[in-house]
Amino acid sequence: MEGNTPGARGHADTHSWSSMCANAPVVIAVVGDPQSSVPWAEDCSAAVENLLLAVTGLNLGAVWVGIYPRPERKTRVREILNIPEGLRVLCLVPVGNPAEVKTPRTRYEESKVHYEVMQGEPRAQ
Ligand SMILES: Cc1cc2nc3c(=O)[nH]c(=O)nc-3n(C[C@H](O)[C@H](O)[C@H](O)COP(=O)(O)O)c2cc1C
Repeated sequence: MEGNTPGARGHADTHSWSSMCANAPVVIAVVGDPQSSVPWAEDCSAAVENLLLAVTGLNLGAVWVGIYPRPERKTRVREILNIPEGLRVLCLVPVGNPAEVKTPRTRYEESKVHYEVMQGEPRAQ
């Protein structure tokens, strides 16, 4: 859907972290069909990752705005886009010119990497 339309602007109010949909020229809704694929969320997630990388390769910016699995979020998107009941909305991806450029950083945590077997005490269930 194109941005700056009532539909795209509507997504800005979908939840507290979707405000970037208000000004993005394009907002892509990623929708899966559980009848076609049991792991629809994993399929769509892999597609979103590729989408984010492709957008970055075009020197544009994008962000994964989570919808699934929160019912209140999906209801709103469903209404705006007229998405049939049987389909699932994984996320929205607003695409546009980035408002800021962040310096690359890592979230790598050595302590979370295990070799051969997991170390440490088992987690409480
Ligand atoms: C499952 C998932 C859901 C996300 N949902 C949102 C969201 O609703 N709103 C948002 O601003 N960013 C969302 N993000 C983006 C993250 O907050 C973060 O900006 C992104 O993963 C980039 O990570 P970085 O901070 O390490 O660069 C989501 C990311 C993932 C993987």
